Amino acid sequence: MRQWIDGLLANSAMRQMGHGQRAEDGNLGLGWIYYALARALRPQRVVVIGSWRGFVPIVLARALADNVEGGQVVFIDPSLVDDFWKDPAAVAAHFEASGAPNVTHHRATTQQFVETDVYRALADVGLLFIDGLHTHEQARYDYEAFRDKLLPGAPVLFHDSVRQRTSRIYGPDKAYEHSVVDFIETLRTDPDLQVLDLPLADGLTVVRRRDVP
Ligand SMILES: C[S@@+](CC[C@H](N)C(=O)[O-])C[C@H]1O[C@@H](n2cnc3c(N)ncnc32)[C@H](O)[C@@H]1O
Repeated sequence: MRQWIDGLLANSAMRQMGHGQRAEDGNLGLGWIYYALARALRPQRVVVIGSWRGFVPIVLARALADNVEGGQVVFIDPSLVDDFWKDPAAVAAHFEASGAPNVTHHRATTQQFVETDVYRALADVGLLFIDGLHTHEQARYDYEAFRDKLLPGAPVLFHDSVRQRTSRIYGPDKAYEHSVVDFIETLRTDPDLQVLDLPLADGLTVVRRRDVP
């Protein structure tokens, strides 16, 4: 495991985007939480929306592969930041080289993905990770698109969810405000939900239905 982590974090892109990663001591940062949840819950199917270079889908895929049940990560990203997710062969090679061949990438926005047969057939999602466009509206869209596809009590993890800030990731002329935190505040008013903020690195919020043991 340590060897795999050292290999992963040797790539500087895997230490970016605010998950609290650190190469010196093989530290996955928030990735430990992603990994631990996927090991402890043993989901067969995980959905990840948005990723810079694949840190989250890779860590989750590794966790599923380490469970005897195995499992698949459905990864949705339209490659809006740059060309990184545009070439299917290069994407498959990237996940293979990262020890995560059990990731299936769909180059689509969530809005486009919900129109596909893959979406219609998708069920029993055991963990949902939302890290796409960080607006209140898109976080709500992503959450509502998959809410009815979750297994009872499945956790939904939101990244960049604890504070507002300006992102220029889509270009200096396309700056936008992160407002996932505002959507989290609306979820907090729902008595059927448990909502836990972890303000580490760029922040994580875990949401799950309260009525499921
Ligand atoms: C780089 S990641 C993490 C966000 C980043 N920390 C930021 O500052 O915005 C965001 C990813 O979400 C993807 N994305 C943007 N809009 C999306 C949408 N509507 N549906 C799914 N993914 C989307 C982008 O292609 C990008 O790769």
